[in-house]
Amino acid sequence: MSSTTVAEFASELKKSPETLLEQLKSAGVSKAAPSDALTESDKQKLLAHLQASHGVAAADRKKITLVTRSTSEIKQADASGKARTIQVEVRKKRTFIKREEGAEAPAEDAAPEAAAPQAAPAQAENPELVRREEEARRQAELIRRQETELAEKRREREIREQREREAAERAAAYAAQEAEKKAQASAVKQEASREQAAEAAARAAAQAEARAKAEAESRARAQEEAARANDLGERRRKAEAEAAAIRSMMSAPAKVLVAKKPEEPKPAPKPAADAKKGTLHKPAVAPGASARPGSAPAAPAAGAGKEVKSAKLSSSWAGDAAKKKEIKTRGDSTGGAGRGGWRGGPKGGSGRRGNDRNDRGGDHHGHAAPVEARIIEVHVPETITVAELAHKMSIKASEVIKALMKMGQMVTINQPLDQDTAMIIVEEMGHKAVVAALDDPEAFTQDDAAQQDAPLMPRAPVVTVMGHVDHGKTSLLDYIRRTKVATGEAGGITQHIGAYHVETPRGMVSFLDTPGHEAFTAMRARGAQATDIVILVVAADDGVMPQTKEAIKHAKAAGVPIVVAITKSDKPDANPDRVKQELVVEEVVPEEYGGESPFVPVSSKTGMGIDELLEQVLLQAEVLELKAPVESMAKGLVIEAKLDKGRGPVATVLVQSGTLKVGDVVLAGQTFGRVRAMLDENGKTAKTAGPSIPVEIQGLTEVPQAGDEFMVLSDERRAREIATYRAGKFRNTKLAKQQAAKLENMFADMTAGEVKMLPIIVKADVQGSQEALSQSLLKLSTDEVKVQLVYTGVGGISESDINLAIASKAIVIGFNVRADAGARKLAESNGVDLHYYSIIYDAVDELKVAMSGMLAPEQREEILGTAEIRTVFVASKIGTVAGSYITSGMVHRNAKFRLLRDNVVVYTGDIDSLKRLKDDVREVKEGFECGIKLKNYNDIKEGDQLEFFEIKEIARTL
Ligand code: GTP
Ligand code: MG
Repeated sequence: MSSTTVAEFASELKKSPETLLEQLKSAGVSKAAPSDALTESDKQKLLAHLQASHGVAAADRKKITLVTRSTSEIKQADASGKARTIQVEVRKKRTFIKREEGAEAPAEDAAPEAAAPQAAPAQAENPELVRREEEARRQAELIRRQETELAEKRREREIREQREREAAERAAAYAAQEAEKKAQASAVKQEASREQAAEAAARAAAQAEARAKAEAESRARAQEEAARANDLGERRRKAEAEAAAIRSMMSAPAKVLVAKKPEEPKPAPKPAADAKKGTLHKPAVAPGASARPGSAPAAPAAGAGKEVKSAKLSSSWAGDAAKKKEIKTRGDSTGGAGRGGWRGGPKGGSGRRGNDRNDRGGDHHGHAAPVEARIIEVHVPETITVAELAHKMSIKASEVIKALMKMGQMVTINQPLDQDTAMIIVEEMGHKAVVAALDDPEAFTQDDAAQQDAPLMPRAPVVTVMGHVDHGKTSLLDYIRRTKVATGEAGGITQHIGAYHVETPRGMVSFLDTPGHEAFTAMRARGAQATDIVILVVAADDGVMPQTKEAIKHAKAAGVPIVVAITKSDKPDANPDRVKQELVVEEVVPEEYGGESPFVPVSSKTGMGIDELLEQVLLQAEVLELKAPVESMAKGLVIEAKLDKGRGPVATVLVQSGTLKVGDVVLAGQTFGRVRAMLDENGKTAKTAGPSIPVEIQGLTEVPQAGDEFMVLSDERRAREIATYRAGKFRNTKLAKQQAAKLENMFADMTAGEVKMLPIIVKADVQGSQEALSQSLLKLSTDEVKVQLVYTGVGGISESDINLAIASKAIVIGFNVRADAGARKLAESNGVDLHYYSIIYDAVDELKVAMSGMLAPEQREEILGTAEIRTVFVASKIGTVAGSYITSGMVHRNAKFRLLRDNVVVYTGDIDSLKRLKDDVREVKEGFECGIKLKNYNDIKEGDQLEFFEIKEIARTL
């Protein structure tokens, strides 16, 4: 330390080099740069200056903490005889606490206070020496203090509180006796009983003394003077005799310590720390603590604590610490804060055996001030590596690994832990674990800091166009953008979200076009989530329809203002008033009726009202005062995603804040990647995209889910970790769901008999379509036929899809995608059912028909005719034959019959044979007679009725 640089010294002092330079400057030491060397005399100058300049402030300071560290090496042979060098690092931390003006002995108290700051630099040279000096001084002070106190007490008691003193003595003596008894009674329970006894005695003494003290306080000064006048030696002898009870109590805690020592090796990994803590516990049981209960933690105290990080040193330090018992006693006797420690001591001791947390806690008990308990609030993100977690708790990674091993998990230092495990570890270590949710900025403090610095700038509004199918949403946007998107759409319907930004004379607006078909609920919901304003499109000739209502719900759920565009107003049957009335029912009230929503009749054919519509939209936007940071890392939403054969996963994203640049590391839901290229909605390359701008990005490792949030991270490794973890979690929940579904099916099968499954594999061009189609198909499920989505994905149909179809006997649906050559061949040779669609309702309708074919046909009974039995023939060879007359309809040989007697069904069965005269016939019509032989039934009578019927199977539809 003879010569260091400013920067080194600054880091030693835990200050910024700039601050130090400034201070040096004001101390008259001219140093220009942090790299300048600093001599010992410079430091002295600085110290002198600081002492002088902070004269007042220093007097106000309560505490000075000095930390020294020394390293040495120990060479020793291990069990195998090899010489090993052990690095020993000794860290000592000493806290000097300024004593406030106490009721007694201000002179003595002043000594450590004055010595502390001056001793500081010297200690750095030889901490051991200084420590010993300190101890000696403390011991002397302790004796003086005890004497003074005892004398004081005695005097108080003698003169004023005879009664109370006796009570105290009795209580303390009794408690001490109790302790002895209990100790003898049970060797096993010895330790505990002593603790109890000590506690009881201490409490009794504390109570008695507190009372005495309170009363004596008013006369404290007079007594103090008297006490000083007396001969110290004589007083001590007398005091000893008198305070025998108190002393016995004082010795009890020492026993606690001794009794605990043999236990310490039990928590095997840390004998050193435990030995130390045992020592540190003990002083907390200082009698002095109870002597001055009135003085709060702010009361003066000089505590000394140190940490030993070597097993080798443990024994010597333990011994040393035991010696220091007196010092600590003294230290605590002067600090009321010791009381808390005293209570905590025995508790910590008992819990310590199996608990790491208390190992740490022991530290705090040992110190005079509980404020030093370092309970850290640890923000735990979704994944965190062992090393990072340890770092957050300011402990060694090995401790975390150890704790995990205890929990049965073998981990490495770089292994990411999931949030739950990490939180358990944090709590186990005695800290407070706080969930730092993934999208919680706290999980990415770095990124967030950057976000906060960036000033908010006005941004363009994001406007989503919603409404019922074919009401003219896309046509409206086409008119605004001067494009012809609507005419190119398959089936004339929009099937995925379109995102465009348009320069209008009054500024830029970003539009999201949503599909109106009922299948795309999820897309509409996403559109509403991403938007600032909704344009609700209602056709003037059609009015409010189911998806109009749905769109209103989405907009209201998202809490965004609605501007109504009454489209197709050019049509002769346009009826804008009806639209208004119907919307009022849906609680979208026009401004002219006192509501909040502007209604604008427009036509995409003539261009009528479109300027006014834009005007209204921009007006709403102005009211919203939309702002976002521009100069920060981008965040936003994935609007659509697809797998492009040449470009790989491609996602359309809407940047909501910050600026997205080519080369940024992006985390989007369960996938991540580096933005390789960006295209705007017209297919032109873009280098950056600011707030409210939709862009198509390439470079993600997988296709994200539409609706996922994306964010730019500074660290690709972290992005990968989070993405992997999210994917894992998603898999788990999916698995759990599948299992639940299987169980459900099992029960359903058991109760409802046979349930037919229709396994389907869906491949679609974009993620949104795949989602919409899957949802629509799942909705087709009935109690008897269930759609089972074996796999859904984005991209062309590959061989692996076909293989899956073969294995699961699934049909394959390609939505706007085709099977590649290999897949096609495989499908043909294995008879896999392949269907291509480009319009969602075609797919749904066809599937519906296919499923109908799977339904068990309905069996319906059809009455054929009736007959009356007029005679009964009994032929020995053939049995009983009913001579009947067909009264209505007809009968044929394969018909079934019901035998009615007085209109009550007697028997139901099949016809065996049908004869007219002697000939077998196929059928007999109304008005003819015939002979009918009934199968397995002979009990017929004249006058019985026969009802003929047949069971027809009718194919069902869904
Ligand atoms: P989806 O996206 O499938 O929900 O439909 P959409 O709301 O986007 O409707 P789209 O723009 O595709 O228009 C549907 C039909 O309405 C088309 O045939 C348009 O030509 C017609 N149409 C749209 N706007 C107008 C209009 O203002 N006047 C007239 N006369 N026809 C219109
Ligand atoms: Mg459309």
